[in-house]
Amino acid sequence: MSNSLSSPTSCKSPRVTVVGAGRVGSTLAQRIAEKNIADVVLLDIVEGMPQGLALDLLEARGLELHNRQIIGTNNYADTANSAIVVITAGFPRKPGMSRDDLLQINAKIVVDAAKNAIAHSPHAIFMVVTNPLDVMTYLTWQATGLPRNLVMGMAGVLDSARFETFIALELGVLPADVNAMVLGSHGDLMVPLARYATVNGIPISELLDAATIERLVAKTRNSGAEIVELMHTGGAFFAPASATSVMVESIILNQSRFLPVAAYLQGEYGLNDVVIGVPCRLGCGGIEKILELTLNDQEKTALQTSANSVRQNIQQAQEILSATV
Ligand code: NAI
Ligand code: 2OP
Repeated sequence: MSNSLSSPTSCKSPRVTVVGAGRVGSTLAQRIAEKNIADVVLLDIVEGMPQGLALDLLEARGLELHNRQIIGTNNYADTANSAIVVITAGFPRKPGMSRDDLLQINAKIVVDAAKNAIAHSPHAIFMVVTNPLDVMTYLTWQATGLPRNLVMGMAGVLDSARFETFIALELGVLPADVNAMVLGSHGDLMVPLARYATVNGIPISELLDAATIERLVAKTRNSGAEIVELMHTGGAFFAPASATSVMVESIILNQSRFLPVAAYLQGEYGLNDVVIGVPCRLGCGGIEKILELTLNDQEKTALQTSANSVRQNIQQAQEILSATV
């Protein structure tokens, strides 16, 4: 008689692979494990680095009171059967660089990562973090060949959290009591929807004058660059990792959260064949619904301008990729 007990498939914990074990990737791995969302595979091109980070995170498990598996690897075979693959691989901005300057460097890295990951996890949902975000998400959708609901980008949750932070600081209220949404591309042309921002249901226009709201919008747009300027090396990673973990959590736990997500559009908001941040319901099916808000003329024009700029960069990325084949 055998003493071994086999565990049924239903006992298996979901696994999230994080490609790129740099600042965003390693902090994200920590958030996912310590919030007890899923097991984590951390993959990087640098040998030994993800393995060392995984060991460090494992040694904190008893202290942080969780029992999540954390694997570090340089081999995509170890990522097999992931429920979600998050791509953070690539380079961050240096002072003076725009997110679009990163296009040239990161396009090939992201396409390779997407192709390698889907070969081992054909049923995974893909979430992109690498910049320029909207273009990299589009390339990932193309490279994986997945339906559009299974490929998305993280930026709006971060940009909205920044806007909420600045509103909360201005009013001296709890950040969690502020609700705001930033749509559009992740860059200077992002579209913060000040008209829809509230503090526990009270529109911010009741609490702040127009000039102050405009100042907070400008601060939100510039926040990523401000952090790069202050840090000199690399960019933000704590809040980006938190924002990504919120999206991962909504999918893994099927929370149906209503969040701004970079999604491939097919006619929504009058836009076609482009990835841009729009309000989505995120659950176990990935992007389960894209919600079409009523926008005024100014907001519509801003979203259109944002989409046009992403389209130009998609075109440029495709030229770069076809020249390197
Ligand atoms: P980082 O430099 O700390 O980490 C990037 C990691 O990618 C490095 O460990 C590097 O070895 C790895 N890598 C490079 N090529 C690879 C490959 N072919 N396969 C696997 N790994 C590879 O950079 P950080 O700060 O973690 O940022 C990562 C990316 O996320 C950047 O492009 C940054 O601009 C972007 N970002 C996007 C945000 C958003 O809101 N969407 C917010 C913050 C960062
Ligand atoms: C940010 O917004 C660099 O995209 C990154 O912080």
